[in-house]
Amino acid sequence: MTTDVPLQLLGGLTAREFLRDYWQKKPLLIRQAIPDFESPISPDELGGLALEEEVESRLVIEHGERPWELRRGPFAEDAFGQLPERDWTLLVQAVDQFVPDVAELLKHFNFLPSWRIDDVMVSFAAPGGGVGPHYDNYDVFLLQAHGQRRWKIGQMCDAESPLLPHADLRILADFAQTDEWVLEPGDMLYLPPRLAHFGTAEDDCMTYSVGFRAPSAAEVLTHFTDFLAQFLPDEERYSDAGTAPTDDPHQIQLDALDRLKALLAEHMGDERLLLTWFGQFMTEPRYPELVAGTDVEDDELLAALKQGAVLVRNPSARLAWSEVDVGLVLFASGQSRLLPSNLKELLKLICAADALHGDNLGQWLADEEGRKLLCELVKQGSLEFADE
Ligand code: SIN
Ligand code: CO
Repeated sequence: MTTDVPLQLLGGLTAREFLRDYWQKKPLLIRQAIPDFESPISPDELGGLALEEEVESRLVIEHGERPWELRRGPFAEDAFGQLPERDWTLLVQAVDQFVPDVAELLKHFNFLPSWRIDDVMVSFAAPGGGVGPHYDNYDVFLLQAHGQRRWKIGQMCDAESPLLPHADLRILADFAQTDEWVLEPGDMLYLPPRLAHFGTAEDDCMTYSVGFRAPSAAEVLTHFTDFLAQFLPDEERYSDAGTAPTDDPHQIQLDALDRLKALLAEHMGDERLLLTWFGQFMTEPRYPELVAGTDVEDDELLAALKQGAVLVRNPSARLAWSEVDVGLVLFASGQSRLLPSNLKELLKLICAADALHGDNLGQWLADEEGRKLLCELVKQGSLEFADE
C-alpha cells in the first residue's frame, strides 16, 4: 500500500497524513475526491433495489404522517409515486453487495483495513430531503454521487446529547453548527464518529456513505467472553487454596478480587483466542443468508479451474488473514482456519484478487492444501463460480 503518496481521494494528503491528522479526529472536506464522478447506479435503479426482499431500505419523510416518518422496505412498486414532491429520502444499505460497480469504489479506501469497512449505503433525496441532524458512532465518508447536497456539521455528541422524542430515528434536539458546504458530484466529506451532521438535498441528489465497523466495548466484552466460555470446563472455578483464616466471615476480602483478576487475566490474555474471536467477529457477514455454499469436490474444482472456470469472492463474504506463531489464520465470513505458513501468497490472493483462475492460481492448483482451501471456501460460500 502506498502510504506516502499524495492521494486525490484525500485532497492531496497521503494516507499517512490523513490517518495521523483526521481519521477518528476531525472532519475533512475534499473537493473532487473522485473527479467527474458519475454514479454507477441511477435513482431508478436504487428505487428498484429497495423493492427487493433481501435488501435493507428505509424511507424518511420529513412531513409524513408524523414529523420525520420512517418507513422500512422492502417497498411496493407504487410506493415512490405516492411520495410528496420534496423533503424525503430513500436510504439503501450495503449497495456494494448488490452492485459490483459500487463495490469497486471501495478500492479507493484500501489504505484502511478492509475488515473495518462495513458497507456502502446509498441515499436518494428529493429536494429538501434529509434524515435530520444526528450523529453516528462510526466514521463515514460521504461521497456526493448525483445532484447537490448541503452538509452542515456541528458539535461532538455522546449518549447524553438530547434527542427529539422519536421512536425510530435519533434526531438531535440541539445542533450547534460550525461549518457548512454544498457538495457537488465527486466531492466527499469525511466525518469522525459522533460529530453532529445534517445533510439536505439542494435538488434530486444521491449520496454514497462508506461506513465502518467498530465493535462497542460492550460487544467486545460480551462476545469475546461468550466465545471464551465455550473452551472453559465447568470444573474450572474460583479457587482459594491456601487462603488465610478470616476475621469476619461476612467480609469480602480484597484478596478475593486478586484471585478473580488473575482468573480473568489468564483467559482474557489468551492472544490466539482473542485473534480468533476478533477475526471471526469482524468477518461476520452482514447478511449471512447470502453466503450459502455449493457442494463441490476437490477434483471437480480442479478440473473446472483447468477448463477455464473463474472463482470470485461472494460479494456478501468478508475475508481477512493473520499470522500466528504456528502458521496463518484465514478468516472467512465468520469462520477461521489455521493454515500452514507456505500458503501466505495464496491467502493474499484469495483476499485481494478480483477473480481466481488457472492463470493466477498457477502452482496453487498443484498444492493439495491450497486446493483443499479453495474447495472449502466454495463449500462455505465465501468463493463462488463467476457467472459465464
Ligand atoms: C444520507 O445519505 O442522507 C444520510 C447519511 C448520513 O447522514 O449518515
Ligand atoms: Co449520518
